[in-house]
Amino acid sequence: MRYAVISDIHSNEEAAYAVFNDIEETGVDEILCLGDIVGYGASPKACLDLVREKCNLVVVGNHDHAVIGLTNKEYFNLSAKKAVEWTAKQLDKTDLDYMSSLPLLTEKEHMILTHASLHKPGDWGYILDEYDADSSFCRMGESSVCFVGHSHVPLAFEAGKFIRCIGSYSQILMNPKYHYIINVGSVGQPRDGVWLSAYALYDSDKNEVELRRIPYDVKTAQKKILDQGLPEFLAERIEYGR
Ligand SMILES: [Fe+2]
Repeated sequence: MRYAVISDIHSNEEAAYAVFNDIEETGVDEILCLGDIVGYGASPKACLDLVREKCNLVVVGNHDHAVIGLTNKEYFNLSAKKAVEWTAKQLDKTDLDYMSSLPLLTEKEHMILTHASLHKPGDWGYILDEYDADSSFCRMGESSVCFVGHSHVPLAFEAGKFIRCIGSYSQILMNPKYHYIINVGSVGQPRDGVWLSAYALYDSDKNEVELRRIPYDVKTAQKKILDQGLPEFLAERIEYGR
């Protein structure tokens, strides 16, 4: 099976369209979404519609949770908090019910999908080093790969004889005897210094993961953020991938 694994669209419709077009041209069997569909950007409704239409499996992210009132937005920075409050006003009951229906984690074949970490998924911890990865590897059971988002930075870890940070990646040929945690980066707000949208292609027959970087109309996405009166910083950062 060939999968596209996407995460952290963050209401960036222009980025989402570019990624879904690339996925369509590439041709996959299923599209899996790791949450944070909304927050930060100016097109929450359009992004929710796209995800509902195109994705086969979807888990919830911390920004989605905050919009429906399940995660305390007081822990968010000021820009994120303002965007969460603005987003909640743009959505109708169908949208909110949809986000409320999304699980914190889900499994498919030998995969686990979650937004942040397998260690207390609703606490939204980050997997940034081998120590963080260890607490999720412990909870993977027989699953061979866990896909995550949340940090907006593509990063991979391997558990073989010991836990190793593979680092940023463009392609990974997975050892079928090992376990992997793979952060697929962010569609709508990359933070690795590259403005291009990120997502991963996973071929479960070949045991291969490829990171894709896709250009999109960042100027339009920025203009929409400013037109809606959202914080300027949110428009600035997508140009620099920060
Ligand atoms: Fe996010």
